Amino acid sequence: MNKFCIFLFLLFTLSGSLTGQPNMLMPVPQKMISGNGEFRFTAGFRIFVNQPTGSRAGAGVSRFIRRLDNKTHLLLAKEWLNKKPEQQNELLTISCNTVAKLLPGEDESYLLKITPEGCELTAPTDVGILYGLETFLQLIESDSKGYFIRSVTIEDAPRFTWRGLLIDVARHFSPVDVIKRNIDGLAMMKMNVLHLHLTEDQGFRIESKVFPKLHQYGSDGDFFTQEEMRNIIQYANVRGIRVVPEFDMPGHATSWFVGHPELASGPGPYTIEKKFGVFDPTIDPTRKETYVFLEKFLTEMCELFPDPWMHIGGDENNGKQWDANPKIQEFMKKNGLKDNHALQNYFNTKVMAILKKNKKKMIGWDEVLQPGLPADAVIQSWRGKEGLEAAVKKGHQVILSNGYYIDLSNPAWKHYTNDPLPANNTLTPEEQKNILGGEATMWAELVTPENIDSRIWPRTAAIAERLWSDREVNNIPSMYNRLARTSIRLEECGLEHITYRSKMIRRLAGNRNIESLITIAGLVEPLKDYKRHAQGVAYSTDLPFTRLPDIAAADAPVPLAFKDLCETWFRKKDPDVIPAIRAQLEEWQPLHGEVQVAASGIPALAPWLIVSERVSKLSKIGLESLHYVESRASVPDAWVKESYATLSEAALPVQECELMIAESVMMLFQNALPK
Ligand code: ACM
Repeated sequence: MNKFCIFLFLLFTLSGSLTGQPNMLMPVPQKMISGNGEFRFTAGFRIFVNQPTGSRAGAGVSRFIRRLDNKTHLLLAKEWLNKKPEQQNELLTISCNTVAKLLPGEDESYLLKITPEGCELTAPTDVGILYGLETFLQLIESDSKGYFIRSVTIEDAPRFTWRGLLIDVARHFSPVDVIKRNIDGLAMMKMNVLHLHLTEDQGFRIESKVFPKLHQYGSDGDFFTQEEMRNIIQYANVRGIRVVPEFDMPGHATSWFVGHPELASGPGPYTIEKKFGVFDPTIDPTRKETYVFLEKFLTEMCELFPDPWMHIGGDENNGKQWDANPKIQEFMKKNGLKDNHALQNYFNTKVMAILKKNKKKMIGWDEVLQPGLPADAVIQSWRGKEGLEAAVKKGHQVILSNGYYIDLSNPAWKHYTNDPLPANNTLTPEEQKNILGGEATMWAELVTPENIDSRIWPRTAAIAERLWSDREVNNIPSMYNRLARTSIRLEECGLEHITYRSKMIRRLAGNRNIESLITIAGLVEPLKDYKRHAQGVAYSTDLPFTRLPDIAAADAPVPLAFKDLCETWFRKKDPDVIPAIRAQLEEWQPLHGEVQVAASGIPALAPWLIVSERVSKLSKIGLESLHYVESRASVPDAWVKESYATLSEAALPVQECELMIAESVMMLFQNALPK
C-alpha cells in the first residue's frame, strides 16, 4: 500500500476514532445526553441480568460478553449474574419485563445509562435489551490506559416497526451459513425482519414433505430442508428477528411446474428456468384442484414458519398463459371477471382465505392491490411511491421496498434519502400509522453466496438507519463516515463483504501478486440499475459470476476520495490538494504494466487489461493536465483532441462496469484548458 492508499484506508476505516464515540453510533439513537466522566473496564466487569423466563436477553448477554472480550482481551467472566451483588463497582445492570412476541408494533425501546459508577440497561421487552447491547458495544473507546465508555444517557426506540431485508434464495441459492451471518448483520443494525423469497422460476428452495416433487424437481438439489429452516428460524428468533417466507404466485412459478405441470395454465412440459426476466408460466387459478393443492402446501408451510405473516408474491404476472387458454377465458366470462387483474384478484382472495384459516396475515407485492382485495392484506410497494400511498389510502398496511433495491448497485446515499414517510407526504396521521417501514431487497440474478454480502453490506446499514432514526437524521457525509466504521464492525459477525474480493481475485490469479488487480477492482463499480443486462451478456444461472463486475462493488471508496480532491481543486480552486492528486495519479499510471504482468498467460484476466489500459491513460492525462496548469505552458491542440477522445471512451461502460475515476480526470482536464 502506498502512502495515498494508507491515507484513504485511515480516512475510510478509522474516521472519528479507532473505537466508539456517541456521535459515531449507527443507527443514530432518538435521544442522547452526554454526562461527565467515563466508565472504565477491567477484568472485574460483571453483568447482572434480571429477566423473565424464556427471555432472549441472557443468551444475548453471553454473545455480547464474547464479542466484548474478543475485542478487548479483558479476560472477562463469561457468565452473567442472576443476583445483584452487594458490592460490585464495575457492573452492567440489565432488566426487562417481557418476552417480545416479534410482531409489528411491539415496544422495542431501551434506556441505557453509562456513568463512572456503573451502567444500566432497561427495556420493556427482551429485544430492547438486545438493541441496547449493540449500542453499548458501539460506544466502547480505548486509550493507552484501557477501554472505556463516556458517560451518556441514551433513550432509544425505532421510528418504524418493520425494518427488513429480503434475500432472494431462489434465483441463486444461499445456504444456511450465508443466511445466518446475514441474520447476525441484521441484529447488529437493529433490523427485525428477514424475508426469504423461497420460490421463483429458477428454483423451489424449500423442502415440502407433502409435495416432495416441488423441491426435488424444482431445484438443482439446492434447497433448505425443513430441519435447516427450523434452525434458521430459531437462530433468527433468539436474535429478535422474524423470518417471513414468500411463495411467489401465480407468476414467477416455473419451478413449481417441473414436478407439478397440472398446476400451470399452459400445457408444458416445464424445466427450471435459467434466464432472468418475466416468464409466461403461471398457476391456473380456475381449477378447483389448484386450491386443494395450495391449501395442503400452504398449511404445511404455515406450520413450518411460525411467523403470523406470510408473503404470496403476486408480482409481474404477464397473463400470457391465461390469454392463450380457452378454458380460462371461458371461466372468466362465466364469472364476470373482466380482465386478468380481476382473475388474479379472484386467485389472491382464495389464497388469502387459506392463509386466514391458518391464522396468517397475507402480504403481497403492489400488484395484488385490486378492487375487492380485503383491507387486511398488506402491500409491499416495489414499483413506486404512488402505489404505497394508494394502498394506505385504501386502509392497507404497507412496507416500502421501492428505492431499497440494493441489487441495483446504487450508492448508499440514494437509499438513505428514500424516506418511507417524507415530510411532504399527504397522509393523515391515521393513514401514516399504516406505513410499517421498509425492506431492502437482495434480488439474486447476479449474486452468489460468494459475493452476496458485498451487495447487502454495508449499504443496508444506511437503510437500517433510515428506518430506525428520525427523519431529521439525514446528513449524508455523516452517514458515510459512520458507514465506513460500521462496515468494519460488520465483519465481526462473519460477513464477507470486504474479504470476498481478494479471495475471488486469487481464484483467477493463483499465486501471482494480486495488488494491481485489487486496485483495479476498487476503481470500478458494477453498472447500476438494470444496465448490466443491456451489455450483450446473455445472463443465466449457468454463467460464472466471478468476473470483474461480480468482484467490484457499489460505493467504491477510493474513486470517491479522489473525486473529493479533484472537486476541491476544480470548484474551490484550493491548490493544497494538488500533491495528493499527483501522488494518486502517479500510483495509477503504471497499473496497466503491472496488470499485464499479473494477467499474462491467464485468459480469464484478459478483460481486466481493457480497464487497466484506460486507468493508465487517464492517469497520464491527469498528470499532464496538472503540468499544463502549473507550468502555464500552452496546451497543444493535438493533446486536447486526443485526451478528449480518451476521456469520452473512459466514460462508457467497460466490462459491465463503470470506471469511477473518469469524471474526476475530466475535471482535471477542463482545468488545463485555456479559459
Ligand atoms: C419485484 O421486484 N418483481 C417484486
